[in-house]
Amino acid sequence: QELQLNLEQIEKGGYDHFMLKEIYEQPRAILDTFRGRMLANEGIIRMAGVDDNIEKFVNANRILIVACGTSWHAGLVAEYVFENLTRIPVEVEYASEFRYRNPIITENDVVIAISQSGETADTMAAIKLAKSKGAFVFGVCNVVGSSISRETDAGAYTHAGPEIGVASTKAFTTQITVLTLIALKLAQKKGTISKSEFHQYLSEMDAIPAKVEKTLESANHVKTIADIYKDATNFLYLGRGYNFPVALEGALKLKEISYIHAEGYPAAEMKHGPIALIDEQMPVVVIATRKGHYEKVVSNIQEIKSRKGKIIAVVMQGDKSIKKIADYVIEIPETLELLTPLLTTIPLQLLSYYIAVMRDCNVDQPRNLAKSVTVE
Ligand code: G6P
Repeated sequence: QELQLNLEQIEKGGYDHFMLKEIYEQPRAILDTFRGRMLANEGIIRMAGVDDNIEKFVNANRILIVACGTSWHAGLVAEYVFENLTRIPVEVEYASEFRYRNPIITENDVVIAISQSGETADTMAAIKLAKSKGAFVFGVCNVVGSSISRETDAGAYTHAGPEIGVASTKAFTTQITVLTLIALKLAQKKGTISKSEFHQYLSEMDAIPAKVEKTLESANHVKTIADIYKDATNFLYLGRGYNFPVALEGALKLKEISYIHAEGYPAAEMKHGPIALIDEQMPVVVIATRKGHYEKVVSNIQEIKSRKGKIIAVVMQGDKSIKKIADYVIEIPETLELLTPLLTTIPLQLLSYYIAVMRDCNVDQPRNLAKSVTVE
């Protein structure tokens, strides 16, 4: 028993929980995921699974992404990234819905299945269905040799390393990394982005691990915010564009490990419902990077303020306008809009982590949840 405990301590590498360790591993995990695949200076992206099937990707009528949970959120980010960079239509579906709704799948579709464990039953069933209709199925898995990685026609692993905490953290950011690399590769091949844009994306991606490291420095500040709002019974998370899925993911993290009810919403949809919930008891986490519809997010924040909601805003370094109206701001370093999810996600993971710890919850093994769901 004692030996077991000590082993666990060693595995946690000095962190109190696996989740925290895995949050802190993200600079390395992202680096490991693009290292050897992306040569920023040379302007090259090499991914065997994509290179070997490049015609299928480039000629795809559309890309269908299937996944569950956090992996589904990575798929939503990828939808924005793929459509913007490659101009290939993308649809993202919960694997559990896809498999039972008699979806239209053709031989000209490329299906991307995302799964950290590579064992999720619904995702596996969706893959089998897509294959039976003749689609080319590509897997983005973390666990090497997992069932999904074997069942798919080709794939690209995330190199996140083992993820033990039930709430997914580094798997999410590395999934976004892999999917962004694929999109960039296809955009280069299709000529849908210019050479200089391509180079800019690569060199910014190269800088992301250091910027994640920098973002992690806000941990103590996030902890202070966690302490203030730990007793809230509801949270709202808002984001737009690339950061709308990040809002969903932030809310999911909080639900999963702290058992506080939270909802993620596209910021502009707030007025169609959630605004009715806002009062002085309601913390609202708003992702408000200076890129992409910034002014609109600022006006959303004003709407929340005027209803006495409490604002925790994730902003870009040097932001002035939001600092004046938000109750708390958390800064991330400047980057390209398309890459912001890799940074904005980090403080939301930390916020849910600290709140869960303060509420005495079992962070690594939350009640009723499993790391991989191998049954329906
Ligand atoms: C479970 C886990 C989540 C995960 C989801 C999908 O619900 O608790 O963290 O996102 O399954 O898992 P997968 O392994 O397919 O990514």
